Amino acid sequence: MIKKVLFSQEQIQKRIDEVAKEINEFYKGEPIIVIPLLRGGFMFASDLVRRLDMLVEMDFITTASYGSGKVSSGDVKIFSDLRSNIEGKNVLIVDDIIDSGHTLKFMKDYISIKKPKTLKIATMLDKPSRRTQDINSDFVGFEVEDLFIVGYGLDYENNYRNIPYIFAFVEEGKYDK
Ligand code: IMP
Ligand code: MG
Repeated sequence: MIKKVLFSQEQIQKRIDEVAKEINEFYKGEPIIVIPLLRGGFMFASDLVRRLDMLVEMDFITTASYGSGKVSSGDVKIFSDLRSNIEGKNVLIVDDIIDSGHTLKFMKDYISIKKPKTLKIATMLDKPSRRTQDINSDFVGFEVEDLFIVGYGLDYENNYRNIPYIFAFVEEGKYDK
């Protein structure tokens, strides 16, 4: 297996400038509460919120749907919950990737019950070819093909989250450009 870099640090940072601009334009200066899903969403969220120009509250939820390995179980668990009351607030959920959609569908339903004023989703990556749930991300960094991806918050068995670029392990010769 070789390491194929999909998005460099520079590409990621440049794209987040654009996504942050979209988000700033969408909320028009209204305050929001940003909820990164831990653990994968921490890296994108920290780069994103530093570019937001409205008043930003932060809260966090720890979720897991994968257990270990590469295949989503579809069984989403909450390991630590919100501390804030989000009723009547503009809520932006931030995660690393939307894949099958199980995690974000579950989280969207879970947060909706708490009656936010608005509820949107931002993800660094979107793997639309794998979607089984009726849900989409409102603000997306990059679309990716069906590869198992790591780096920039994304893990394999909880490793590689700290790598500042996004890459995949692929067989030599495959996906050469
Ligand atoms: P979903 O519930 O299938 O949409 O997957 C959501 C979660 O699975 C993400 O928040 C990631 O933690 C993880 N995930 C999905 N695809 C990948 C991948 O390609 N690499 C690493 N983690 C992934
Ligand atoms: Mg993960």
